[in-house]
Amino acid sequence: MKKTAAALLLCLGLTACSPIEDGAVPAGGDIETGSSSVSDTTASVTENMTESETTESITETTTENIIAETSAESVTTAEEVTAQTETSTESVISETSAETVIDTENRPESITLSTYEIQLTVGGKKMPIVTMLPADCPDKSEIWESDDTKVAKVDGYGNITGISEGSCTVTVTAAANKSVSASVKVTVTAPPQTHGEPTYIDGILIANKTYALPADYAPGVQPEAEAAFKEMQSAAWSEGLNIWIASGYRSYEYQSGLYERYVNRSGKAEADRYSARPGHSEHQTGLAFDLNSIDDSFADTAEGKWVAEHCHEYGFIIRYPKGAEDITGYIYEPWHIRYLGKETAEKVHNSGLTLEEYLGITSVYAE
Ligand code: DAL
Ligand code: ZN
Repeated sequence: MKKTAAALLLCLGLTACSPIEDGAVPAGGDIETGSSSVSDTTASVTENMTESETTESITETTTENIIAETSAESVTTAEEVTAQTETSTESVISETSAETVIDTENRPESITLSTYEIQLTVGGKKMPIVTMLPADCPDKSEIWESDDTKVAKVDGYGNITGISEGSCTVTVTAAANKSVSASVKVTVTAPPQTHGEPTYIDGILIANKTYALPADYAPGVQPEAEAAFKEMQSAAWSEGLNIWIASGYRSYEYQSGLYERYVNRSGKAEADRYSARPGHSEHQTGLAFDLNSIDDSFADTAEGKWVAEHCHEYGFIIRYPKGAEDITGYIYEPWHIRYLGKETAEKVHNSGLTLEEYLGITSVYAE
């Protein structure tokens, strides 16, 4: 978090989330996308080697192979081979280098993916997890390709991004054994329009910079979220820890005043990094709570650490993790938890992804 934003939150603290009465519980009673490593592939290294590097590598390791293979094909003598090698090094290298550099004994034999079908909205991202076997093969480098980059593009790590509506196939190939590959079907859709209705994606109510809630959506704090919080609060209490709700449900109107105040104090661009515009706050869903001290320091308290470690067991996720501002749209908020229900919270937590990444959606204002 930028110091200016941290200081602002510190000084505004509870004022910023003043409806403590909203769902408040009395005192006493919040990867870089994870990626597989992609080193240069053996084949591409070979392709990209300069002539002298290639010559050196062949000379060091494969003179016998060249002689043996050439002998087998043309039944030439060792002297003739030597003469050929001296006079036509380039042609020998170009014919034999691809076969002789690759370690065929320990190369990948299979690739499986965590999913073979992906749905994304335009701008959304997802990354299938790759399992390459045998597990101990030394070169697990991956080559990723999309058969239609106008629909979805993919980077060298397997991050797939929706570009425009349509379907395409993204394929990962083992660099050390190009006969081994796996494909995922990618379907990209336009972000749904809100049309005055809240947006549910995979059954999850979404309020972020892309998806707004209607101004008249005013559900109040949700009983299942409140009950889950109380269960979590009791568990923390039994370990000598005190967690409470500093800010719960916030109406459209309340968020409007709050956001306006932040814009007046720090300007719109900065305010947009830590405060949602009216209609875009998760607090309006009645499913989000700010806990204890609304400040970065919460992450270093015993309570903050406990919440980060255990909240998924009670159905919550830390909604705006560190280092994910480009994805969630907001700076790190260790105090802001979002109720998803135990099953979904466990899945999102175990994925190590933000909710946006998990669902393949964006969080960006249309402006
Ligand atoms: N601080 C979060 C992003 C909100 O205003 O809802
Ligand atoms: Zn919050």
